[in-house]
Amino acid sequence: MMYSSLIRPLLFKLPAEDAHNVALNGMKLAARSGLATGLLRAAVGAVPSAPVTAMGLTFKHPLGLAAGMDKNAVALRAWEALGFSHVEIGTVTPRPQPGNPKPRMFRLPEDGALINRMGFNNGGAEAAAARIKASKHRDLLVGGNIGRNKTTTNEHAVDDYLAALNAIYSCVDYLAVNVSSPNTPGLRDLQSEASMRELLTAVAREARRLGGKPVAVKIDPDSTRDHVQRTASLAVECGLQGIIATNTTVGRAGLQTPQSAVEAMGAGGLSGAPLTRRSTEVIGWVREAVGTDASVIGVGGVRSAQDVIDKRNAGADLVQVYSGFVYAGPAMVRELSPAWTA
Ligand SMILES: Cc1cc2nc3c(=O)[nH]c(=O)nc-3n(C[C@H](O)[C@H](O)[C@H](O)COP(=O)(O)O)c2cc1C
Repeated sequence: MMYSSLIRPLLFKLPAEDAHNVALNGMKLAARSGLATGLLRAAVGAVPSAPVTAMGLTFKHPLGLAAGMDKNAVALRAWEALGFSHVEIGTVTPRPQPGNPKPRMFRLPEDGALINRMGFNNGGAEAAAARIKASKHRDLLVGGNIGRNKTTTNEHAVDDYLAALNAIYSCVDYLAVNVSSPNTPGLRDLQSEASMRELLTAVAREARRLGGKPVAVKIDPDSTRDHVQRTASLAVECGLQGIIATNTTVGRAGLQTPQSAVEAMGAGGLSGAPLTRRSTEVIGWVREAVGTDASVIGVGGVRSAQDVIDKRNAGADLVQVYSGFVYAGPAMVRELSPAWTA
């Protein structure tokens, strides 16, 4: 209540990325103090558990925080206090990079949506690894979402993914290979069959060499059913344990926000409510393709307990949220928990 009546209106007075930074800094401060995380936990209330096994790991319930919210792993204990079962940090790249020029993040309140073209702004995989190691979280699984630097060509992309993987491997529970961000020029070209086979084979082999932690690939919502299903089957063939569906869309169909305002925001990935149905459809395609050979992590436009249920019914083992959390606020995990206790 306090979020929607007081905190959100204040945050929404700021440009979207500034509001994100204010909120994330608050979470970062809270994460540093046992007292503050205790207060957060008490304010949000207890989140019931209902263990889920996915990618060979046991999650206390299905809901996690999607990649991009805490790219640099600065607030793990605070996410734990809010009740998330897991957080996917990143996307991290081997070398730190500033991302695209600002402004690069926009709100579409009439649509419950966001558009972003952040471009993998992050402090580098090693810095994130050091923070995860220093964090005192105990009851939270951490995924490490990895990508390539903007200045690395696709020809050398595998080297970047392996470097990022090596930097974070020891301190994460699973790895996520991001080939689906629309904001790094050429990145989605890595979803072609030949590039995908080379990349996923190399990443899976490296993860096995380092000890066998599970690896998932994150796909886009803009591909055809045929392409989605071939990608999902290829991931299984290459030895991956999970498919994350989906990243943001480059589509702009069916928005309530005036077209001129949307056009003024420019290029980027659209997330939130306009993505809900499409991502659930893609989850269904993925599940149909992989059967029981891989876990499916559903993400895209989750705002309500029903959205979580729909994604699970479509075949998702785990569900993640980003944009819905911006609109719903810190009590979201508890509010959505009827999805796994009913
Ligand atoms: C501002 C912003 C930054 C994001 N950054 C990343 C990222 O670095 N890596 C990634 O795999 N996904 C990233 N995403 C995509 C989300 O993880 C998620 O797949 C997408 O937003 C759909 O979920 P949602 O509708 O709940 O937001 C980002 C999304 C937003 C809104």
